[in-house]
Amino acid sequence: QNLATILAIETSCDETSVSVVKNGREVLSNIVSSQIESHKRFGGVVPEIASRHHVEQITFIIEEAMNEANVTKEEIDAIAVTEGPGLVGALLVGVNAAKALAFAWDKPVIGVHHIAGHIYANHIVDELTFPLLTLVVSGGHTELIYMKEHGSFEVIGETRDDAVGEAYDKVARTLGLPYPGGPRMDLLAQQGDPVIDFPRAWLEADSYDFSFSGLKSSVINTLHNAKQRGDEWTNEEIAASFQASVIDVLVTKTMKAAKDKGVNRLLLAGGVAANKGLRQALTEASEKEGLKLTIPPLKLCTDNAAMIGAAGTFLYWSGKYADDRLNGQAGLML
Ligand code: KG4
Ligand code: ZN
Repeated sequence: QNLATILAIETSCDETSVSVVKNGREVLSNIVSSQIESHKRFGGVVPEIASRHHVEQITFIIEEAMNEANVTKEEIDAIAVTEGPGLVGALLVGVNAAKALAFAWDKPVIGVHHIAGHIYANHIVDELTFPLLTLVVSGGHTELIYMKEHGSFEVIGETRDDAVGEAYDKVARTLGLPYPGGPRMDLLAQQGDPVIDFPRAWLEADSYDFSFSGLKSSVINTLHNAKQRGDEWTNEEIAASFQASVIDVLVTKTMKAAKDKGVNRLLLAGGVAANKGLRQALTEASEKEGLKLTIPPLKLCTDNAAMIGAAGTFLYWSGKYADDRLNGQAGLML
């Protein structure tokens, strides 16, 4: 494999991020500009506001990433960009910036799937070895993905309704916590006991799929009934009980899938990989089963361009360049 220095761009949701990654693993810069403050008062990401922020930020963030990496445009081999899935208006800003740069600098442009990016965040931490299984948990995704080699993704399980992060954020909202509620729920959960026995959606015995909307409704009903019955649950107890149900299902299904698929390498990916309880439970279960587990540091778990650069490097090495039809695709499949 020849040397590769990739400039990567990620604008699929509410972070504008640009990174320079060398040889798929060495992060020379990884600038992330978050818009959370602008979306907070709406209780969620507003697509139109997200696009506008990306437009305002993108050229500055590119410049900052290039400066921090201390590389010239001559040293860049290709431009990688998230082409989907995500908010289409937000994706378009990154894709068009990438295409414009690729044209101006005469470099190939590479379209990267956002989830492939989340998975490859692990490659920055510890080189991927195959076969492996990744549990992807984010605001928009909950998936179990089997890989037998670089660039090959088999989705063996996914959510049938809400994504984990989405369920966290919705329950948090019901508890009156500000957006994004996931991290706050995690903190509360650590301070309370799981005294309420919320349901676990196991689905069919042989299914690796997930479902979290029933659990979400159960939490909301419990809160509603508690008021009428005079039950006194603290937010800490609700959060701990909700989290216990989520983690129980995620970890049990992941371990079963790992066993069935005969893998001994496990990865955790996506924004919810920042969850303390989940990290701990998956670490313990992996140790018990003798599996090697990799979990990225927090900065590489949430949306960032370094992960897109890492995944993009392998596409570069295998010559999978995009042409000028490259476009933002809201529902792009892996
Ligand atoms: O991967 P990400 O940054 O964006 C998406 O692609 O969705 O994930 C964001 C999601 C949000 O739903 C947020 O609430 C959740 O990850 N999240 C957490 C924690 N940190 C972030 N959920 C539970 N516990 C956390 N510590
Ligand atoms: Zn993401």
